[in-house]
Amino acid sequence: MTPPGQGSTLPVPPGRPAATPLVFAHRGASAALPEHTLAAYERALADGADGLECDVRLSRDGHVICLHDRRLDRTSNGTGPVSSYTLAELSRLDFGSWRDGADPAPVLTLDRLLRAVREAARPVRLLIETKHPSRFGANLERRLVEVLRRHDLADPGPDCPVRVSVASFSPPALRRVRALAPALATVQLLELLPPGRWVGGLLFGAAAAGPSIDLVRSRPGLVPALRGSGHQVYVWTVNESSDLDLLARHGVDAVITDRPADALAHLGR
Ligand code: G3P
Ligand code: CA
Repeated sequence: MTPPGQGSTLPVPPGRPAATPLVFAHRGASAALPEHTLAAYERALADGADGLECDVRLSRDGHVICLHDRRLDRTSNGTGPVSSYTLAELSRLDFGSWRDGADPAPVLTLDRLLRAVREAARPVRLLIETKHPSRFGANLERRLVEVLRRHDLADPGPDCPVRVSVASFSPPALRRVRALAPALATVQLLELLPPGRWVGGLLFGAAAAGPSIDLVRSRPGLVPALRGSGHQVYVWTVNESSDLDLLARHGVDAVITDRPADALAHLGR
């Protein structure tokens, strides 16, 4: 039986040498196209990314929306907190044109992203980050798990090609995910490392750690310690070749990058 919160493992995808990390597209192929748009995720799938990373927030009426920022201002023609808009109101905004030369794009719901992933008809991993603090608190994880259940992804069978992990900087958020859906793998994101703590203790029960590349560079003992304690390691946001080399040497499980095509090419895929 799969231990709670640790999800299940998949075979190494065809064409991926066993020792190279999986490549996740951070907010989609976000160096090429506006982040968190369907076009950015479809590009990442076409590029051959093993996985897709996305951030999620709730609309005022409880829909799970793929967006990074608390406010709309940077990545749309709207203004103010995402949480004060209904899905119908968000659907009238443009999330593409803020990027020079990019086409207009509608808001992306998690539901729509999951349909696109299913349509890819190949193994795809998803790393879904719940963004906190949220004015909706625990409802974010509740609604996320509801959507995943609707798509049969909260406790997938062995033949399901789509595998979801949930990440967060918030340990209570991940504890909620494990309580709601024990088969989902959880990834504790790390940006700082308090001195003198045993690394396993920093993960609060998550199967995997998600340190930033800055943290990995500044604490060379971190990845070996995490791996030595049996944890998977997902590193973000990895856009430099030298960092890919470093992480491949470390044997990390996954890199999360804005440039999935470049990362795959650099890793010889
Ligand atoms: O995958 C983790 C990484 O995305 C966390 O940082 O700010 O890009 O969500 P951020
Ligand atoms: Ca994120």
